[in-house]
Amino acid sequence: MAIAIKAEGLRKVYCGKPALDGLELHAEAGTVLALLGPNGAGKTTTVRILTTLSRPDAGRAEVGGYDVAREPRRIRGIIGVTGQHSAVDGRLTGRENLVLIGRLHRLGRAEAAARADELLHRLGLAAVADRLAHTYSGGTCRRIDLAAGLINRAPVLFLDEPTTGLDPRSRLELWTLVEDLVRDGTTVLLTTQYLEEADRLAHVVAVVDHGRVVAEGTAAELKRRAGAEQLSVRLQHGADVPVAAAALRRIGLVAADPAAGEVCLSTEDGARMLTEVVRRLDDVDVTVVGVEVRRPSLDDVFLSLTRAGDRTAPGVAA
Ligand SMILES: Nc1ncnc2c1ncn2[C@@H]1O[C@H](COP(=O)(O)OP(=O)(O)OP(=O)(O)O)[C@@H](O)[C@H]1O
Ligand SMILES: [Mg+2]
Repeated sequence: MAIAIKAEGLRKVYCGKPALDGLELHAEAGTVLALLGPNGAGKTTTVRILTTLSRPDAGRAEVGGYDVAREPRRIRGIIGVTGQHSAVDGRLTGRENLVLIGRLHRLGRAEAAARADELLHRLGLAAVADRLAHTYSGGTCRRIDLAAGLINRAPVLFLDEPTTGLDPRSRLELWTLVEDLVRDGTTVLLTTQYLEEADRLAHVVAVVDHGRVVAEGTAAELKRRAGAEQLSVRLQHGADVPVAAAALRRIGLVAADPAAGEVCLSTEDGARMLTEVVRRLDDVDVTVVGVEVRRPSLDDVFLSLTRAGDRTAPGVAA
């Protein structure tokens, strides 16, 4: 199974507005695909279609080689899902919630209990396992949800905003858990609004906006697309700025700020540019006291790729 998740031309319309508008995705088996996108982009709608909870109006999709429209039962047998909103039953304990889900996945009584116990320990939930879930904090509910998604050892996992509401430590623990699962061969599709999460976990990041994939690639590829590196050079004397600007004009100068005593350059290769800048400034007797290379972050990518505008009407085609 080389391609674990495939979506072609997915379209879904709600109340006359397209939530998905020709969405295309591919995830290779054993990799993490992150859907990164603003509110209303269509991430949850995509997950719902791929997990057979909703049908597309057009287009097709496959999970593990099975077609979502023709073989939904097959798909349900090979996936684990953690939804964006908690599905924990507050009237049961955490452990009871997990055993129940295990039984729904047709695990035997003893096996469901053993699997629940294993996951409670693995997710640091042992201490709260036997309390009623309505007493849990938001982060604890989230971890129970995750455990529920893992109960059937599914080879393909869908995690819709798995770390929203988790504190930094829990988020790191979850990342490690996902990395462990992927090392063991699991394919993961996760949605997130945290660029750092996509950067850390995803082999491929698909930036989704207005129901389409507007860019796709590794985090590094996307960052390169967002543009060049910025090199800021601080001079010892602000009065040197005009001389420095003249010396650097031909090699990518983009700004000169005498008040700040700074000149800025744009470059494809900050490290090489740095040597050249220092040499040229030395030639004109200008002393450099500080240098900073700023690489585009995934935030820059996100902001440059997702169109600003009315997020309350995201389905409206451009
Ligand atoms: N059941 C529904 N009925 C009507 N409109 C819906 C329904 N589900 C989603 N939508 C609309 O479809 C669009 C995409 O929603 P979706 O939930 O997929 O976005 P999302 O990327 O998951 O956003 P968020 O980051 O806020 O979770 C939105 O405009 C949303 O209002
Ligand atoms: Mg969502």
